[in-house]
Order: sequence, then structure tokens, then C-alpha cells
Amino acid sequence: MKETGEATVLREWVRAHRAAGRRIGFVPTMGFLHEGHLRLVDEARRRADPVVMSIFVNPLQFAPTEDLARYPRDLPRDRALAAARGVDLLFVPSAAVMYPPGSETRVVPGEAATRWEGAARPGHFAGVLTVVAKLFNLVSPDVACFGRKDIQQATLIAAMVRDLDWPIEVVVVPTVRETDGLALSSRNVYLSAEERGQALGLNRALAAARDAWAAGERRAAALEGTVRATLRMYPGVAADYIAVCEPGRMAPVAEAPAGTVIALAARVGSTRLIDNTVLGEEPG
Ligand code: PAF
Repeated sequence: MKETGEATVLREWVRAHRAAGRRIGFVPTMGFLHEGHLRLVDEARRRADPVVMSIFVNPLQFAPTEDLARYPRDLPRDRALAAARGVDLLFVPSAAVMYPPGSETRVVPGEAATRWEGAARPGHFAGVLTVVAKLFNLVSPDVACFGRKDIQQATLIAAMVRDLDWPIEVVVVPTVRETDGLALSSRNVYLSAEERGQALGLNRALAAARDAWAAGERRAAALEGTVRATLRMYPGVAADYIAVCEPGRMAPVAEAPAGTVIALAARVGSTRLIDNTVLGEEPG
């Protein structure tokens, strides 16, 4: 596995592969890799060769009150995991490479960014889209893979690619879970053993809504009520939002046909977690 932090080295490496007629796969990450990230590598590999992974904890997508300074980092471990999974190029830029002094231009996300995560974290999606746009320009991938756990992010990135006419296939990969259902997240490392037990409430609440939907419930308010009622059984979980929404613009719905997304965010102790399910699809 080759590794670089230099944009010029990355570009030259990509140019040589493209000149040889190869499809470039890309997995952008903020590091502290887990199996969810590595499945994105597998998916990229199925669709392209070579595969580039980036690791960059993007300051632009964290509010001053958020966890940028303590966001978990372990580059030696990430390097070993990425190499073992077959990443061909690891791009690890510094903040100075990504945002040199005077770098002021930002991507303005569409309306879907005003809701849910976007409402809870003002400026977050502008930060995400800006860094992803920059990474797309540096890597110029044919295919880029994102996790479904961040479903609103994936939706906004797909919309940006469509709206800005980038010839990039955006692939959204199902969430990877622990055997007890907890969605893998780099932030799970913040949880104490007790909080981790409480955090299971997120997936259990989504599973209860899935069961209600499978039994015929289609009223969004009733499905939301099921999620809330299940979460009440986990007193360590404080719900931030419960969204029953359509997948395109993430707009709330009154009725929930197949494909409807139920997304939620909650605090468990001082850790903010998100999870979601897509009704009528395999849980993931
Ligand atoms: O999902 C993430 O890890 C980040 O938001 C991303 C897409 C790598 C942009 O910083």
C-alpha cells in the first residue's frame, strides 16, 4: 500500500492508473477505522481497481462545541487495517494541505441539509460537502462508497454529484452492526460499558418500528410513537430527533410506504449517536 499526504503525489498516482485504463474506487473516511469502513473498501474493490482511501478529520464539519479535539485517532492501526483490506493508496493530508491559508470557498448544500442532522448541527453538511468535493477533485474517482449509517450525508453527497454533474457513481453501503445490533461507529469508543448497553436502545427502537411496519402500520406518527415508546425503556438515551421521512429530500412524511427512512439521533451520556433503517429493505 502506498501512502501520501501530498496532493501532487496523489494526483500523479491517479493519473498513471487512469492512463492505464483503470477505474478508480474511493473511500473517504475520518479514520479510526472499523469493519463498517472496511466493507466500504470491499464494495469499492468490487466495482473498481485500484482503491484509494482518505483519512482526514475534517475540522470544517465540527462545530466549536463538538468533539474535534478528542475525535479518536490511531493512524498506525488504520494503516495496518487499510493495507490488510487491500487499499492501494492511503491519502492522509494535513489540514494545511486541505485548507491552506485563504481557502474560503464552501459548498452550499440543498434543502435536505436543513433538517435533522443539519438542524442539530448547523454548518455540518456544508463542511462535509466541501471536503468531499475537494477530495473528489483530488482523487477524481469513478466510484465512491459511503455508509448508510450517515444516510442524510450520503443523500446530500449523491445530490451534490448529480447537481454538479460529476461522473462519479455514489454507492451507499448497508450499516455494519455488532452481533447485538449496535451500529458500528468510531464514536462508540466514547461509551462506558453501561452506556453501551443503553445505546442498544437505538437499534431496538428502529427494530420495533420495522416490526410495526411489517404488521401493516403505515402512519408515520404511529411509527414515530413506537420508536419513542421503545426508547423510553432506555433511560440513558435522550432522543434528539426521530425522523420518518422520504429518502430523496429527507422531508417528513405522513404515510410510510416501502423505502421510507426512519432516522434518529440520541445522546447516550455525552456521546451523540445516529442510526436509521429503511422500511421494506434488509435491516442494515
Ligand atoms: O463520514 C465521514 O467519515 C465523513 O463525514 C466524511 C464523508 C469522510 C467527510 O469528512
